[in-house]
Amino acid sequence: MTSALFQPFQLRDLTLPNRIVVSPMCQYSAVNGNATDWHLLHLGQYAVSGAGLLVIEATGVEPEGRITAECLGLWSDENEAALARVLQVVRPFASMPIGIQLGHAGRKASVRRPGAGRGNLPLSEGGWKTFGPTDAAFGPGWEEPRALDRAGMDRVTQAFVQATQRADRLDLDLLEIHAAHGYLLSAFLSPLGNARTDAYGGNREGRMRFPLEVIEAVRAAWPAHKPMGVRFNGTDWLDGGLTGEDAVAFAHQLKARGVDYMDLSSGGSARAEIPLGPGYQVPYAAQVKREVDVATMCVGLIRDPVHAQAIVERGDADLVGLGRGMLNDPRWAWHAAEALGAKVTVPHQYLRGETTAGLPSQDTIIRSAAAR
Ligand SMILES: Cc1cc2nc3c(=O)[nH]c(=O)nc-3n(C[C@H](O)[C@H](O)[C@H](O)COP(=O)(O)O)c2cc1C
Repeated sequence: MTSALFQPFQLRDLTLPNRIVVSPMCQYSAVNGNATDWHLLHLGQYAVSGAGLLVIEATGVEPEGRITAECLGLWSDENEAALARVLQVVRPFASMPIGIQLGHAGRKASVRRPGAGRGNLPLSEGGWKTFGPTDAAFGPGWEEPRALDRAGMDRVTQAFVQATQRADRLDLDLLEIHAAHGYLLSAFLSPLGNARTDAYGGNREGRMRFPLEVIEAVRAAWPAHKPMGVRFNGTDWLDGGLTGEDAVAFAHQLKARGVDYMDLSSGGSARAEIPLGPGYQVPYAAQVKREVDVATMCVGLIRDPVHAQAIVERGDADLVGLGRGMLNDPRWAWHAAEALGAKVTVPHQYLRGETTAGLPSQDTIIRSAAAR
């Protein structure tokens, strides 16, 4: 039996060994944007997870683009060297390609990390003035951002380009641009975040203009043989916000600019109530895949391997991302392989822990006995 979830997937010159993606997850463990020993641990454990792709957390392209003061960055030589140290240790053990998500948090930047209180981090505690499409705050009680003017937009585009060049120098295999969850590019895209009256606001075309400029510049800076994707919202879950139709229109534009996969997510507004349930964002990935004929990744409460496999089999998405499910079970891919009768790469050091259908295989038992 061949398992759809464990089929390789090709993006440009890159082959993912299977369809399981460790979704980008902020670790709130960087110092001045520099990766630390925590990143060694975190990325190290997912490097041996058997997934098909590991995507490093949302990484700020400039200091003001970090979500929290402890978020990872890639704007300086020091940031690049810190991540190089981590990758030098992790990569030799990784059985999958490693990508990175680049982002700018916009008016949702300068907040405390989860669990450390809500709202903006005051300037007195190391917070900073944020940037948005206009000076409208993200929500009640939030600081007003500074509206990005032409020079500011050029600065941010350049920051994305320079971070892309650094990611290439780090030999990363894949790039994902974060344009979801109400952060800077997402705020430009959404009618709820963008009330500009110039060419960068108004109708859908105007709202897409700045994100597309950034993505075009990034694609030009990222080597042609390496794939890139964009994460964006399938819906804002609010009246007057982005819908599946907007996602399809954006995906058409992205595909035309050489974006290889569309990573459909949702939400990120201060008011939205999200109807959470297994695979709650899959319909958006499926719609984009169907209507744009492009590779998609889905994510969101996918825990059951049979469900993950069905998503790929039905053709709703090519890649299945897991966030919280991976935190809860870093060996999710092993267990999925067991459940689906597939094979996954297990480091030789861990072979004695590998099981088949929940039980140690006869082979493993014999090998274990011989080793004792
Ligand atoms: C701890 C944590 C950090 C996250 N950080 C990011 C991030 O850096 N970039 C991003 O696009 N999504 C981020 N997310 C969202 C996840 O990538 C994922 O899309 C979301 O949690 C839904 O999938 P899940 O139900 O499998 O967790 C984060 C989620 C968690 C739990």
